[in-house]
Amino acid sequence: MPAAVDIDADRFRERFEAYADIGATENDGLHRLALSDADKRVRDRFVGDLEDADLDVRVDELGNIFGRYEGENPAAAPVLVGSHLDSQPYGGRFDGQLGVLTALEAVQSIAEADVEPARPVEVVNWTNEEGTRFQPSMMGSSGYVGFEAVEELLAATDRDGNAAGDELERIGYDGDAPCELPEEGVHSFLELHVEQGPVLDDRDLPLAVVDGVYGLSWLRITIEGAADHAGPTPMHGREDALAAASDAISEINRLPGRLADDAVATVGELDVEPNSINVIPARATFTVDVRSYDDSVVDEGVERIEREVEAACERHGVDYEIDYVSRHEAMAFSERVRDAADRAVETADVPATHLVSGAGHDAQHLQRVTDAGMLFVPSVDGRTHNEAEFTEWDDCVAGAHVFANATLELANEDA
Ligand code: HGY
Ligand code: MN
Ligand code: MN
Repeated sequence: MPAAVDIDADRFRERFEAYADIGATENDGLHRLALSDADKRVRDRFVGDLEDADLDVRVDELGNIFGRYEGENPAAAPVLVGSHLDSQPYGGRFDGQLGVLTALEAVQSIAEADVEPARPVEVVNWTNEEGTRFQPSMMGSSGYVGFEAVEELLAATDRDGNAAGDELERIGYDGDAPCELPEEGVHSFLELHVEQGPVLDDRDLPLAVVDGVYGLSWLRITIEGAADHAGPTPMHGREDALAAASDAISEINRLPGRLADDAVATVGELDVEPNSINVIPARATFTVDVRSYDDSVVDEGVERIEREVEAACERHGVDYEIDYVSRHEAMAFSERVRDAADRAVETADVPATHLVSGAGHDAQHLQRVTDAGMLFVPSVDGRTHNEAEFTEWDDCVAGAHVFANATLELANEDA
């Protein structure tokens, strides 16, 4: 096992606080939507830090930002480490941001130590992991591994009709580098992330090695009724799109209990038109997010949602359309990377466990083309996608120390 590398905890902390200020909300959260002005500001800061760390910076067509440390054998397939800097509308400071800054601190500490890694290591910020402004989520890593076509992803539009490609250009991150794997391939990918669940916090454990990620399906359902006056129109015969949607939504929320222990379903968005106090809703559009570590459960969940929507629309005499926004299958991470993470945990003598992630992560796309893995640090009360998201700083430092050494081990593997 090569000599251990240590991180600069003060630099790590200062940087984290500085990044948390970019797009900060007044409740200590983040409002830093993908490709927004705040995203541009944090990208600019990140590029500056990569340059200060003497890493070679490149930006690809989807705005993914890479900082490369050559290592002894520049022709060898690189180890990639990183996460995402975009946030939910009112998200936490740790989701994604902690992973990017942990990766930067790890690589910078490796570069400063006298432990030259055998192969190149690249720090990455993946574009639009959250998928809240532009769908699909995990956009940057999806294009990079070839799961979805770059042109299609650039054409994705937000609620105001802005295309992702135009927004990348507007903020100056429509990079020249091709968004694709290097010829020599990628040796491995490692991502640190907050757990976004209660397990580590409940069990008072500072770290987890992640075994895999749930499968997920995102649907957008549009129900078309007919506007009419709320007063003179009798209840029978109305074509009330919102009444049909609310029937379906209440059934959808009861579904997971009938599907599987780990099944979850969430209606996160609901739009009503014309949204007027005295007009029967003509249109109701809502989204459904269905997940389980068992893909057959996700598929069955989608089928049952289709049936619920059809039955509700029949009852209310309205039409509907289902847009299948994205489907990411459940993904188990590679033994090789999990073992390297386990060894780094053991060397650091930090208590840890193994977990499966209900949240999606870029690592699940990287697992399609290389050996990928993740480390989790605790989320206090499991709270996340919420300004109150919090991780104790000692846990962040312990996680970064283990992450740096797992990265170094991977970077020295059979190069
Ligand atoms: O949806 C997710 O799991 C992630 O936060 N993008
Ligand atoms: Mn995340
Ligand atoms: Mn998230």
